[in-house]
Amino acid sequence: MNAQSPVNLSVLRAMSAEKQRIACLTAYDASFASVMDAAGVDLVLVGDSLGMVIQGRGATTAVTLDDIAYHSRYVAPALSRAFLVADMPFLSYATRSRALDAAQRLMQEGGAAMVKLEGGREQARIVEFLSERGVPVCAHLGLQPQLIHKMGRFRVQGREAASADAMRRDARVLEDAGADMLLLECVPSALGASITEAAGVPVIGIGAGGDVDGQILVMHDMLGVSPQARSGRPPRFVRNFMDGQPDIESAFRAYVEAVKSGAYPAAEHCF
Ligand code: KIV
Repeated sequence: MNAQSPVNLSVLRAMSAEKQRIACLTAYDASFASVMDAAGVDLVLVGDSLGMVIQGRGATTAVTLDDIAYHSRYVAPALSRAFLVADMPFLSYATRSRALDAAQRLMQEGGAAMVKLEGGREQARIVEFLSERGVPVCAHLGLQPQLIHKMGRFRVQGREAASADAMRRDARVLEDAGADMLLLECVPSALGASITEAAGVPVIGIGAGGDVDGQILVMHDMLGVSPQARSGRPPRFVRNFMDGQPDIESAFRAYVEAVKSGAYPAAEHCF
């Protein structure tokens, strides 16, 4: 794989098959996106985490489709190599027609090559509907931040045998429905490893251990500037990559290097 040629889904599948780890970060504007692209980040997500780190809210649920389309529109042209994924905001995929409209906007206006939505088997029909219409979908399992008002608090998912089995089944159902990528958030490392082992698509983790195909972090967390990072109590999986680095591009390069070598995540970042 040429390190300079654009990353597409075939490249990501090949990286997964060849056990080359995939380095992913979130971005929300052109400047940071171009620096991370130059630093070798393989996949950039315009995440609805922008509700927290850009808009300063306590949750992602207020983020709108306009917000994600707006930020994607500026991230997309800044990437010459990285693969661009855009988040489908809360309720934007509650029905097939809303999901199709949302995906259309994120791909046509936002320039995304894939959309991401949260949920397990209950989203299989939406995933199938989008996939059959040529929309690449990443299914986000485990901790689903859009459910915060139902759950009450963020916590590790799949710790018990029954919930771990259910998540393994959800991953299979979503892949069978056409999901081209899975994202696992805050799950025990052993569960991340077993879902990855069984999956035929790349699996990206955030707090899902080291035995997944790739890692993703929210940019503001790994630069140490998010409210959570500054509170001194960032999530367990966050490492501050600015530590010891002279500038932001070096921090991104250190992250890419740590993901590729397997140095990140270390045991202290895992559940
Ligand atoms: O919105 C986001 O940034 C995400 C990451 C937590 C993966 O979904």
